[in-house]
Amino acid sequence: MSSQATADKTYAPSEEFVSNAHIDAAKYQEMYAASVNDPEAFWAEQMTRLSWTKTPTKIKNTTFAHPDVSIKWFEDGELNVSANCIDRHLETRGDQVAIIWESDDPNLDKKITYNELHQQVSKLANVMKGMGVKKGDRVVLYLPMIPEAAYSMLACARIGAIHSIVFAGFSPEALAARVEGCGASLVITADEAPRGGRNTPLKTNVDAALAHGDLGSTPVLVVERTGGDVPMVDGRDHSYAALMADASADCAPEVMNSEDPLFILYTSGSTGQPKGVEHCSGGYLLWAAMTQEYVFDYHEGDIYWCTADVGWVTGHSYIVYGPLANGATTVMFEGVPTYPDAGRFWAVCEKHKVNQFYTAPTAIRALMARGNEFVENYDLSDLKVLGTVGEPINPEAWNWYNDVIGKGKCPIVDTWWQTETGGHLLTPLPGATATKPGSATTPFFGVQPVILEPTTGEEIHETEAEGVLCMKDSWPGQMRTVYGDHERFVATYFADYKGYYFTGDGCRRDADGYYWITGRVDDVINVSGHRMGTAEVESALVAHAKVSEAAVVGFPHDIKGQGIYCYVTLMDGEEYTDELKVELRNWVRQEIGPIASPDHIQWAPGLPKTRSGKIMRRILRKIAEDDFGALGDTSTLADPSVVDDLIDNRMTKG
Ligand code: WTA
Repeated sequence: MSSQATADKTYAPSEEFVSNAHIDAAKYQEMYAASVNDPEAFWAEQMTRLSWTKTPTKIKNTTFAHPDVSIKWFEDGELNVSANCIDRHLETRGDQVAIIWESDDPNLDKKITYNELHQQVSKLANVMKGMGVKKGDRVVLYLPMIPEAAYSMLACARIGAIHSIVFAGFSPEALAARVEGCGASLVITADEAPRGGRNTPLKTNVDAALAHGDLGSTPVLVVERTGGDVPMVDGRDHSYAALMADASADCAPEVMNSEDPLFILYTSGSTGQPKGVEHCSGGYLLWAAMTQEYVFDYHEGDIYWCTADVGWVTGHSYIVYGPLANGATTVMFEGVPTYPDAGRFWAVCEKHKVNQFYTAPTAIRALMARGNEFVENYDLSDLKVLGTVGEPINPEAWNWYNDVIGKGKCPIVDTWWQTETGGHLLTPLPGATATKPGSATTPFFGVQPVILEPTTGEEIHETEAEGVLCMKDSWPGQMRTVYGDHERFVATYFADYKGYYFTGDGCRRDADGYYWITGRVDDVINVSGHRMGTAEVESALVAHAKVSEAAVVGFPHDIKGQGIYCYVTLMDGEEYTDELKVELRNWVRQEIGPIASPDHIQWAPGLPKTRSGKIMRRILRKIAEDDFGALGDTSTLADPSVVDDLIDNRMTKG
């Protein structure tokens, strides 16, 4: 999405901004050099931003060497993440607001102080203990964006249980796979999740999920969000309100090793089913806290808002863990950007006097399309820094964000990172970096990006380079393993390019050393900033009785970034009808969730395959993009005429 023309235009922060910023350009250079020249010394100093019950003496012990990949930071240190996010702030800021909750309903909000947070989390930790949850157990959270989601995460951390959050938009089938995958001993959910004025039946979804396999007796804790009447299974399901009412607010935080897992989060890859990305306690928290402070230039007293959902990694690191570790005030939003109208984000910014605002390009594009009148009525003068995450931002959206929302005075931080990285890796620092629309600019401290030639795997040393993006060395926030499957971890990230962490992204580095992400180079697509494996959608499609084969690719979509394009072959004798397209779309929604809804289904009585039977996705991508002239060599196909049929079909039936 980058273009050379805009590459030359840079936006430097104002002198006033720079003079108040934590990090200016000179300081960035100095700290960056220190971080890569002597990581041990650098991180030994940085780790003091956390409170350790046992100060680490071993700082870094990491190797990317295939196949013995092993990543340990601060490995003999001890701490508790919830104590770092809550208890240590009580003396100085117990009455400060920790969480501002803005509900789906614009007339309902709530402020939770650090003292209240401490009380709620301690009670819930005791409730969970009372339900038999112990250190190391897994707890699945399937919740709306309500304060109880943060309480649940922190209560797990307090007792050393490992949370695995499942986005509330996932279907019962997807939820069941995740509950089973991590062997959860408790599910925390809510009766219903209000979003955009409509309620999603979370508890009913949980019931459907637990009807799978042997999950039937998994205990469920149900938060009363709407008070809607939901069926409760006697002995298995418990009322959150009832148990909290009787719980003690005294719960000493469990002592955890720095390397003990904090959470698992399932994410999509290029092959197979989603994998459980496992993050640890110390290194992850340090990374989340440090990036939250420096990347958003967060200062004492600021109001900070990340619009993500806690079901995604952005919500973990930048709604809950990073800000709370820093004693910040973090806004948590239950609703959607367009309800009650397309001015909602700006109404909330005005109402809560938001200083740092962090969202996804897909939301910016969608709101931009609705027109400036939804922005103009609001006072956005408290905004200081604007952030984006999740996908490349096109210069047009960047400029709108800069001009219409930031009024040209708020640096934009385009943060590139992944579920696997725990927090930002490539990003501007607002007081230090002159930005270029569409570029995630330069590495954060300790991050050593390299660009490799995709086929040879050779590192390209010239400043100007294009290839695949890898990392040369570890950083504290890096994932440690795939839950229960270290071999898969090694095979996914360290086998294609030996000695490096492979991100799966393509990337260009310009003459100034700025990085421009060009998108995934694997079969992962990015739909509205949500990561989706094409293989997952394919396996949902072929699970339908009438489908014999399916191939799914991404295609450029004005608002979503990428849309989902499915080529479907039916079983012999089945009829290719429009009704069946509708049925298949609903089927995928039911199998995975609404975020996986196909944008386009094209009937494909034949798929382009090599003689060895491999589907040539490159060709399918080009057809989906209407780029028929660039199909490349089709002579290796078993039956080249299939391609003509697909093009014909695409042109005549759309
Ligand atoms: C993409 C989200 C361009 C990228 C935090 C990456 C981006 C994937 C950016 C990870 C950005 C994320 N510019 N592309 N600023 N941020 N991506 O795991 O392809 O949901 O590999 O983490 O999103 O998605 P994930």
